[in-house]
Parts: sequence; C-alpha cells; structure tokens
Amino acid sequence: MSFHSRWPLVGPAPAALCLCVISMLLLCLLPSASCTTCPQKCRCEDLQFYCDTQGLQAPPDGVDKGALGLSLRHNSITELSPDQFYGFSQLTWLHLDHNQITTVQEDAFQGLYKLKDLNLSSNRITKLPNTTFIHLINLQILDLSFNQMTALEPELFHGLRKLQILHLRSNSLRTTPVRAFWDCRSLEYLGLSNNRLRSLARNGFAGLIKLRELHLEHNQLTKINLAHFPRLVALQFLYLQWNKISNLTCGMEWTWTTLEKLDLTGNEIRVLTPDVFETLPNLKILLLDNNKLSSLDPQVMDMWQSLGTIGLSSNLWECTKRICSLATWLSTFKGRWEHSILCHSPEYAQGEEILDAVYGFQLCQNFSAPVTKAAVTDDFSVTDNTVLTHRVIIGTMALLFSFFLIIFVVYISRKCCPPTLRRIRHCSAIQNRRQMRTQQRQPMADLATQVPYNEYEPSHEEGALVIINGYGQCKCQQLPYKECEV
Ligand SMILES: *[C@@H]1O[C@H](CO)[C@@H](O)[C@H](O)[C@H]1NC(C)=O
Ligand SMILES: *[C@@H]1O[C@H](CO)[C@@H](O)[C@H](O)[C@H]1NC(C)=O
Ligand SMILES: *[C@@H]1O[C@H](CO)[C@@H](O)[C@H](O)[C@H]1NC(C)=O
Ligand SMILES: *[C@@H]1O[C@H](CO)[C@@H](O)[C@H](O)[C@H]1NC(C)=O
Repeated sequence: MSFHSRWPLVGPAPAALCLCVISMLLLCLLPSASCTTCPQKCRCEDLQFYCDTQGLQAPPDGVDKGALGLSLRHNSITELSPDQFYGFSQLTWLHLDHNQITTVQEDAFQGLYKLKDLNLSSNRITKLPNTTFIHLINLQILDLSFNQMTALEPELFHGLRKLQILHLRSNSLRTTPVRAFWDCRSLEYLGLSNNRLRSLARNGFAGLIKLRELHLEHNQLTKINLAHFPRLVALQFLYLQWNKISNLTCGMEWTWTTLEKLDLTGNEIRVLTPDVFETLPNLKILLLDNNKLSSLDPQVMDMWQSLGTIGLSSNLWECTKRICSLATWLSTFKGRWEHSILCHSPEYAQGEEILDAVYGFQLCQNFSAPVTKAAVTDDFSVTDNTVLTHRVIIGTMALLFSFFLIIFVVYISRKCCPPTLRRIRHCSAIQNRRQMRTQQRQPMADLATQVPYNEYEPSHEEGALVIINGYGQCKCQQLPYKECEV
C-alpha cells in the first residue's frame, strides 16, 4: 500500500501490476514458500496439484517434482508406463480413479517411497503384475475397487506392511491366493464384496492380525467354515450377506472372542448348529434375515448369550410345536429385532408374527403368553379392530334408519299436508282478518296481548317447517277448531 501512495500520479492498473510482480519476486526469494508454476490444466494449492477432468492421456508436464499430492481423476489415461512418476519422491497421495487404465507396467510406481494413499478405483485394470506396489513401502490406503481383475498375483501385496485399508470391491475375483495378505500386518479394513468368490482358501486371510472389518458380501460363497478364519484375531465385523451359503460350520475347536457382528442376510441357510456359535461367545449382532430356516435348535439359542440384535425375518418358519423353543427365546430376549418374524407355514398361520401365532393358536404348552410387548399390542389392535367394525356397522344402520325415517315422514306429511296447509292458510287468513279488526278497534293495545297473536301468524316457510316437524297440527289445534273449519 505504501508503494501505491508514493506514486499517486501513476494509474492504479500499472501500479497494481508492479506490486504484483514485486511481491512474486519477493515470494520467490523467500526460502520456505514455493515458487512453482501451475500447469495450464491444473489447479494448484501449495504443492498439491488437481488436474481433474481435463481429458488428459498422461500426467501433464510441469508438475513440480516436489509435489505432495497429485489428482488426475476423471481423465483418459489408459496406461501407466515404467517410471511414470519417477522423481516424485515427496508424493503422499495420488488419485488416478475414473480413468481408462487397462495396463499398469511393473515399475509404474517406482520411486514413490512416501506415497500413503493410492486410488486406482473405477478403471479397467484386469491384471496387476507381481511387483506393482513393491516400492510403496509406506502405503496406507489402496483403492482398487471397480476394476475388472479376475485374479490377484500371489505376491501383489507383499511388502505392504503399513497398509491399513484395501478396497477390492466390484472386481471379478474368483478366489484369493493362499497367503495373499501375509505381509499386511497393519490392515484393518479389507473389502472384497461384489466379486465372484466361490470359496475361500484355507489360509487366505493368514497374516491379517489387525483386521477389524472383512467384507465378503455379494459373492458366490456356498460354504463357510469358520476354521478358515483362525488367524483373524482382531476381527470384529464379518459381512457375508447375499452369498449362497447353505453350510455354516466350524471345523475346529477354537474361540473367536473378538467377533461382534456377523451378517448372513440373504443366504440359503436351512440349519444352524451350536458349534458355530460356541466359537463366537461375544457376538452382539447376528443377522439371518432372508434365509431358509424353518426352526432352531434350542442349543443354538443357548449360545446366543451376548446378542443385542437379531435378524430372523423372511425365513421359512414353521409355526407348529417346532417353533416353541424360538418363541420362548424371543419372548425373553432383551435385545431387539428390526423386521417382524413371520410364520411361513402351516397355511393357517402364514403371515402371523411367530409370537402371536404361538399365543393365538396355543401352540406351546408352557408358553407364558402375553408377557411380550409385541403380543400385547397386537391383541389390543385386534380388539380395536373389532370395536371399529362394530361401530361402522351400527353407524351405517343408524344412517339408513334415519334416511328411511325421513323418507317416511316426508311421505306422510305430503299425504296429510295439503289439507293441513290449506287449513293453516285459512287459519291465518281468519286470524289476519281478526287481527286487523282488533287493531282497528284497539290501536293502542299492549304488546302482551299482541305477542301470542303474532305467533299464530305463520309465514309460508314457517308453516312448512312446522308441518315437517310434525307439530303443525298441534299448533293448529291451539286455534279454536271451529274457526278453522270451512
Ligand atoms: C477413490 O476414489 C473414489 C472415486 O472418486 C472414491 O469414491 C473413493 O472414496 C476413493 N477411495 C478412497 C480410499 O478414498
Ligand atoms: C511373482 O513373484 C514370485 C517371486 O517373487 C514368483 O515366484 C512368481 O512366479 C511371480 N509370479 C508371476 C506371475 O510373475
Ligand atoms: C456341511 O458340510 C459338512 C461337510 O461337508 C457336512 O458334514 C454337514 O452335514 C453339512 N451341514 C449342513 C447343514 O449341510
Ligand atoms: C412345562 O413345564 C413343566 C414344569 O414347569 C415341565 O415339567 C413340562 O415338561 C413342560 N412341558 C413342556 C411341553 O415343555
């Protein structure tokens, strides 16, 4: 600003330009500040380069070698050649998602020793060479989701000891190699959902000692043997929903204390055995909705000691005596279930809540009936419904009755009215004449004597109303009948 004031005669535009140039020079001389140029198609913040959605077919020239982050999202890169990022030794994140990468050469990421976050999601990668990530010893997050990989090289993830999050969802993987994650001792999240996995290798997850969350949903697994997971000593959440699992076993004696959530929604489980749940003493959430269970072994439920949430809806529950153990367990269960658990058979109980059916049809001898809230509320709603129906019927009848009554009254009055009306008109005519006479005789008569007189003087509408009300004749009767007679 002082600059500006010293040359007050110079126009504002040249002055601003000078100021700008000088400040840029000053900035360049300062050792800490960066003096990098921003490539034409990029947006730059400090040493982070955002070159998104520019139709780029390769990383642009002119990105500073000291870059900390580089985003090349939504471009048209098809291949990563060897040493593609050579010299970017400071790079900590690299986003290459939403390109058309089909080929990644062996040494494409060579030299990126500091890289922590690599996103290759939404490309067309079918295969990655053994040594693709071997130099990325500091990698923490790797996203390979939404590609077309059908297999993983056995040693693809070797050396990634700092990897914490690995996304492999939505590929076409059919299996995972034995010991594929052997080195991933820091991995906490592994996403393998939406693939084509048919089976899991015996030691497929060996080495994942810190894994907390394993996603295997939307695959084609048919058998799950918990003995395949013994090395997952930190796992808390296991997602297996929407597979084709029909056989759930545990082929070895072992206690898996960390597992808290097991999601088996949308499988084909018909039978559950106690040994599986004996292995999982701390299970809190168990979701078995959309399976083919028809009854449960009481010993299975004996193992559900720490459960707080259960999902049992959309199964083939058979509401006969076989359901008693489940009903008894449900009626004392302190946790919650989100979707109603309905009978599938026999026909007469179909669609009923299990607890209602057991109570309503007296299926179980010792079932302590209405202790459960569900049963009670439903009973109330049933009574409510009956009462409501009764009310509706009575109301309709009353309505019909009054309708006919009105019709009847109208009919009667139309039959009787004409003479009555005539009679009233005569009455009023006579009264009018009398009144006129009286008024003529006593113009100053007091109101008290006049008022009752005026009352007998029905206007046209009043007369009709009076007659419909059924009082017409009565009022007429107050008049001396002889006067009314013609
Ligand atoms: C990778 O990029 C995709 C698409 O932009 C994004 O949805 C995803 O969250 C990113 N992955 C990670 C781990 O940040
Ligand atoms: C991957 O590397 C290992 C040794 O590092 C080697 O035995 C294996 O054959 C390699 N696989 C391929 C497909 O190159
Ligand atoms: C599951 O598979 C095992 C071994 O193949 C077999 O012994 C067992 O009967 C099966 N269980 C069910 C419920 O199909
Ligand atoms: C009902 O309970 C009694 C004792 O409480 C027991 O002896 C009997 O076996 C039970 N019956 C059934 C069908 O569970």
